[in-house]
Amino acid sequence: MSRVPFPSQAKPEAEIFSAMDAMRTGDADWKHAKTWSLVYHVSDEHTEFLKKAYGKFFTENLLNPLAFKSLKKMETEVVQMVADLLHAGPEAVGTINSGGTESLLLAAKSARDRARKTRPWIRNPEVLAVQTTHVALEKACATLGIKFRSVGTRDDYRADVDQLRRAVNRNTILIAASAPQYPQGVIDPIEEIAAIALDKNIPFHVDACIGGFFLPFMKDADRRLPAWDFRVKGVTSISADLHKFGYTAKGASALIYRDMSYLKHQFFVSALWSGGFFGSPSMPGTRPGGAISAAWATLQKFGRQGYEEMVQKTMEVAERFKKGIEAIPELQVLGNPDMSLIAYATRDPSSINIYAIADQLEKKGWLIDRQQSPACIHATVTLNHAQAIDAYMADLRQAVETVKKNPQLAKEGQAGMYGLAAKIPVKGLVNMEILKVMEGLYSGKDKIEFSGNELEGSESSEKPPAPSGLGRLIQKFKGMIG
Ligand SMILES: Cc1ncc(COP(=O)(O)O)c(C=O)c1O
Repeated sequence: MSRVPFPSQAKPEAEIFSAMDAMRTGDADWKHAKTWSLVYHVSDEHTEFLKKAYGKFFTENLLNPLAFKSLKKMETEVVQMVADLLHAGPEAVGTINSGGTESLLLAAKSARDRARKTRPWIRNPEVLAVQTTHVALEKACATLGIKFRSVGTRDDYRADVDQLRRAVNRNTILIAASAPQYPQGVIDPIEEIAAIALDKNIPFHVDACIGGFFLPFMKDADRRLPAWDFRVKGVTSISADLHKFGYTAKGASALIYRDMSYLKHQFFVSALWSGGFFGSPSMPGTRPGGAISAAWATLQKFGRQGYEEMVQKTMEVAERFKKGIEAIPELQVLGNPDMSLIAYATRDPSSINIYAIADQLEKKGWLIDRQQSPACIHATVTLNHAQAIDAYMADLRQAVETVKKNPQLAKEGQAGMYGLAAKIPVKGLVNMEILKVMEGLYSGKDKIEFSGNELEGSESSEKPPAPSGLGRLIQKFKGMIG
């Protein structure tokens, strides 16, 4: 039995649900805050609220806004509420998309199509971003046939503005930076970059996918944080994910433009299709109503005051996390994060390997996000982590001691994989190995393990494509596709 056949008979609901419950026993334990990314959880009460709000428009489809005027109204209102939060002017417009990745894809698409009209001489369009800009923008460019270029950062992990200024050329159709960038949680120098964008008359996108529902609610935000939203002249679009710190149901990200002259290039229209006239604002055809209704309802539920309280509490948890790291002499927090995104590394990477520490933490049941350039561990600290900081720090202290005593751990597990990959000068080779892992994962021939068992029907007599030495190590990778 190598593949799962189409079910021949109907099964009772209880059997189906119990099979689903059995499958999740080996999943990452976000509920007890063992994960440091992927899930944004407020409380069981809020999850029930989200299900209710999602359920109200579970069946409806925003593919046709004229059929479901309720959903179009909710989308418009969410866009306007977010535009208000980001201090966009009265001309601001936008769409609610499936996630940060789609918002970035659309920001790049509208810049490309706008350039086709306004700068038709550009044959090879380029997006200019920063090394730390979320990889979804690089993916967008790869998808849209745009060249993706990035500049480095200063010592504080913020974009190197001088490099960026020099890198702008006649093919640049969009500049992008972050508020904050994901890897170290710092806001790029948005005002300085916006000045360059204005001077060169190039659209400037600020990726606030993770910060959009956090930074505006921080205490004394206007005094403590550098300007980054639409109040900065030159910023033409901002993405802000509702399904991250907006705490709405998954599948919702806002993309706001300063005015319609940018948004209109996001749209796709066709007057020729046999199925009739067609107009689509974003990537999908079918657009789940629930994601929009849950977003609309959640903004009403919390309001500014509710978000301010949650952000305040989250910053207290993040402060505990930071203090915990700083209390371990061998470790240091990288940069000075502007919100609750914290990256830490070892002070002396040549003697204590941070990836070996990550491996030790995973042995204790934590799901750890590893980063590179520089090698570090990343944590998106949320409200839910209040329960986990003490236990995490205790395990971290122990992990540091274990790695100090056993330096050979740097050559084992994922630490070995990252060490090996770092030594390969041609990154294309590493890409090829990652690709092989992806093929393995999606071949249907991989054994999916949970609780020491194999998923029924996924066992195979055929083997997935055999990866090379590095590939075998990469088999265990996680953070690289997260
Ligand atoms: C700054 C930033 N931009 C974009 C994304 C991509 O968002 P999504 O995973 O919703 O596609 C993320 C995800 O963490 C992010 O942190």
